[in-house]
Amino acid sequence: MRRIRIFDTTLRDGEQAPGCSLYPHEKVQIAEQLAKLGVDVIEPGFPASSPGDFAAVQTISRTVSGVEICGFARTLKGDIDAAIRATQDAERRRLHLFVSSSQIHLDFQLRKTQDEVVRMAREMVAYAKQFVDQIEFSPMDATRTGEEFLFKIVEAVIEEGATIINLPDTVGYALPEEFGRLFRTVRESVRGGDRVEYSAHCHNDLGLAVANSLAAIQNGATQVELTINGVGERTGNCSLEELVMAIETRKDALGFETGIQLDQIYDTSRLVSRGMNFPIAHNKPIVGRNAFQHESGIHQDGLLKNRNTYEIMDPEQLGIPRSMIVLGKHSGRHALKHRVMQYGLTLSDRQMDDLFGEFKILADGQKFVSDEEIMGLVSNQARSPVVPYTLIDLQVVTNNHRAKVASITIRDNRTGTERSYAGTSAGSVEAIVHCLRQAMPMEFDFRDLEMYSLSSDETAHAQAVVSIMVDGVEYQGTETDTDTVLAVAKAALSACNQAVAGMRESAETDAV
Ligand code: KIV
Ligand code: ZN
Repeated sequence: MRRIRIFDTTLRDGEQAPGCSLYPHEKVQIAEQLAKLGVDVIEPGFPASSPGDFAAVQTISRTVSGVEICGFARTLKGDIDAAIRATQDAERRRLHLFVSSSQIHLDFQLRKTQDEVVRMAREMVAYAKQFVDQIEFSPMDATRTGEEFLFKIVEAVIEEGATIINLPDTVGYALPEEFGRLFRTVRESVRGGDRVEYSAHCHNDLGLAVANSLAAIQNGATQVELTINGVGERTGNCSLEELVMAIETRKDALGFETGIQLDQIYDTSRLVSRGMNFPIAHNKPIVGRNAFQHESGIHQDGLLKNRNTYEIMDPEQLGIPRSMIVLGKHSGRHALKHRVMQYGLTLSDRQMDDLFGEFKILADGQKFVSDEEIMGLVSNQARSPVVPYTLIDLQVVTNNHRAKVASITIRDNRTGTERSYAGTSAGSVEAIVHCLRQAMPMEFDFRDLEMYSLSSDETAHAQAVVSIMVDGVEYQGTETDTDTVLAVAKAALSACNQAVAGMRESAETDAV
């Protein structure tokens, strides 16, 4: 197995995506998580670009250990000095220098001749080399640079001491076969080309970033530059989780490995998505909401019998909770039974048949059936509520300048008692969560809230997905309502109900 180095540029190139900028403290938190994920190199920002970015790179260099820190700079003394100072205290560091090399960039952006650009690159690599040993060099827009000039500039920087040559497909233009060939020819044709390491940096404009990165490593690249969730300029960079999982899942064919801790993938993806306020498409490979959801009855049935029937990766290995399969009109009896069991309920075959019949009638008229509706059907059948707690009443007073106030009445279905709780906070959701914390018999961490709009009109039909953690186990509740806040409250209670049911079930098993 050949070990591929993972260079993470979420905090530099990823942050260049529109609307994704981060505060320095958020960068530090993400960098800590990236180290936990096991990336080899972190590029935490562009120190010369702003005082905030300088501070973030400096703090990360000082505090994040076990990973190499990369200072990013144009081939300008001021940039290099800033990158050197910002990364001064890193355990291990490198500098990453870049300059455009394609004719279109030279003519319209740099307004420099090829000779001037080579001279700049040479001088600045030699300058940086006095301070830092590991120098990575990127000829920007490499895939639209003619071979002759590309070889010339790469040769020049290797002569001056560059140790890593990164070939960026800056505008996502390359095709896999072409990109692979580029690595092979640069490696074989450039003087000194066998003395350096090669790195691939792919953008996803044609959806080929993962394929191109794989082609590069099949042709000698030992490092790939990636971002979490594929975030980055325009359509983004090569997605870390997609590339890593392609390497992992198809190691039989590829023969590569990485140092990534797979079980940290999901948490890292969530952290970045939340911090950057960047939603993940439902059908995004690996971390998208639908990546491990199965709606069709045939798929659900196969999956419940043997996961490998319709899944090539194990979501739990990636740290993804085996959360709820979306239940809808295509769902089978097996999946419905599974869902009911998540609430700690066991039904006889007859009860299950009846429930399934009613479920199918309900599902025929709507896009999917929520847990609340399923539990409603089960409760009707049993002639009493089957979930531990039912929401009886919710009121939230909201305004634009004072604390929000929530009051909730909840019935404990075991004892039949109803109790009311009040909570205040800066936000309506937090006020509701304060109420739930008082009402529930266990402590929980509110992990995540995702909201989806189910309608495009003023009815504002919303779907809320709430995740909570209880004793290291994640529970997820999904509910819908035409009132957004109510959808969140119901989803949070649904997650709590699953946790309580799980706790009661294990307590009963222990007693036996
Ligand atoms: O896409 C690109 O060319 C880059 C380089 C500066 C590495 O991000
Ligand atoms: Zn880039």
